[in-house]
Amino acid sequence: MDVAGTTLAFLGLGVGALAGSFVTVKRRIELSRAKHPSLTGHARMSRRVAALLPFYEYDESRFFCSDGAPEDVAVRRREGFMRLSALYEARFADSIRRTAEVSDSISDLQFTEAYRVPFQYSRLVRTHLRIGAFVQSSEGVTVTDLDGNRFYDLTGSYGVNLLGYDTYKDMMRRGLERVRDLGPVLGPYHPVVAGNVRRLREISGLDEVSFHMSGTEAVMQAVRLARYHTGRSYLVRFCGAYHGWWGDVQPGVGNPVRARETYTLKDMSEDSLRVLRSRNDIACILVNPLQSLHPNAAAPADGSLVDGARSAHFDKVAYTEWLRALRAVCTERGIVLIFDEVFVGFRLARGGAQEYFGVGADLVTYGKTVGGGFPVGVVCGRRDLMKRFREDRPADICFARGTFNSHPAVMGAMDEFLRHLETPETQELYRDLDMLWDGRAQRLNSRLRDAGLPVQVANLSSIWTVCYTRPSRYNWMLQYYLRAEGLALSWIGTGRLIFSLNYSEADFDEVVTRFVSAVQAMERDGWFWCDPAATNRAVRRSILKEMIAHRFVELRDHRS
Ligand SMILES: Cc1ncc(COP(=O)(O)O)c(C=O)c1O
Repeated sequence: MDVAGTTLAFLGLGVGALAGSFVTVKRRIELSRAKHPSLTGHARMSRRVAALLPFYEYDESRFFCSDGAPEDVAVRRREGFMRLSALYEARFADSIRRTAEVSDSISDLQFTEAYRVPFQYSRLVRTHLRIGAFVQSSEGVTVTDLDGNRFYDLTGSYGVNLLGYDTYKDMMRRGLERVRDLGPVLGPYHPVVAGNVRRLREISGLDEVSFHMSGTEAVMQAVRLARYHTGRSYLVRFCGAYHGWWGDVQPGVGNPVRARETYTLKDMSEDSLRVLRSRNDIACILVNPLQSLHPNAAAPADGSLVDGARSAHFDKVAYTEWLRALRAVCTERGIVLIFDEVFVGFRLARGGAQEYFGVGADLVTYGKTVGGGFPVGVVCGRRDLMKRFREDRPADICFARGTFNSHPAVMGAMDEFLRHLETPETQELYRDLDMLWDGRAQRLNSRLRDAGLPVQVANLSSIWTVCYTRPSRYNWMLQYYLRAEGLALSWIGTGRLIFSLNYSEADFDEVVTRFVSAVQAMERDGWFWCDPAATNRAVRRSILKEMIAHRFVELRDHRS
């Protein structure tokens, strides 16, 4: 090659490299744009910030006036707090005593206890407002603790309790009876499995089914299959969405290692669609339709309720459009669309989110309630995506087994659950479901508004979130007033109330009365006091200042 030829060749290579790096830079910019501006949207950054966050707490002198409340308000708060403490110690004595005996040995309990409220307040709350971890029985829409107190259950057992506890008790008992002769035999199936598969195929509208032990496992398997069949490695999840505790779906705080092949994108955003259209490394998109209630936000736990900024609003039309857009881009780009219906499956409609929003997925995961009261995870999917081996490549397999998959006890109860869905009374439950629960939410909101109280609820059918209309630092206290009124909440507190569908009008009216009383008591005790000039942003800024000050103290102490 002569000199001119060589120069041209180098020029060509240079132009090619430049064009290549231009495309890479463009892709990176697109990816950055598709991230939600919050820390939740930036997994790596959120882990870094979390590592810097210093621990500090309010002692008794600051606890009641950390927002600068005047002395008389702080006194009312202290008196209310101590009154509540005395009530808890007397009313829940046995439950508290038995919990204290084991809490040192149950790591899960220590974790949930520590994170019920913002960490600055946690120690004093744990000392004075102890919560029993044990209950002895359930009946109707209630659970009873060891002291015989009956609580209206607003926990929904993390979403498992869709039809009412008595129904699950029956399903578990009858399911066990059905498989009694087989016992714990694993490997070969009990014949009930065939009926379960037939019903799940019909409900999901998909070809094949696999059984797992938990929702987390079902999601792991769905993602693994998508990676196997597409030959691509990245999964896309949306900002704030929970898909279980497996590392790849939890790239931010809570996971000690980086999730290297996960993109966390903005929900309901054209920027995200642009990324999906332009990248070739995306195997699947995971959608948790519960996010439609609070797009781009994590589960609204009271442990992070440091102001009144929590917001939620369900817009069915807008979310349906979003799902349609995702469906279209997945079809166009050969990306596997996975609906993670572990939570909302069977709750929004018999056919779950697919039926409710009228959009079909390629793979669907179910869990929680479909086990009829026992632990379970299920994947339903298109035949070509569910296959775990290749006819022409015998060693190229997608391995997924599990000792307890298709356990007879679970399969028996699942059979009962799926049959139950076919009864006229259950079908009747699904009719006008949203109208019923939207109406109930409005009723509670009117009562709260009429009483001039700074609390409202937002809902996706029977899944509710409590929102606060004043920027108080103490909104998380409501969970303790609600418990005092006999309303049971899960450890994340007022962020998520889950109703079972067997709540009658009378049951619900009783919940409304107790709820309003709790908010009124909290108001009387001064917790909703706020500086008229306060805004949520100002509250967060003052907390940030405290954190920075404590961080400096830490650094200084470290050096000296
Ligand atoms: C949408 C979703 N996916 C997956 C999971 C994980 O299920 P499990 O807790 O059974 O592992 C959950 C649990 O809350 C969930 O809500």
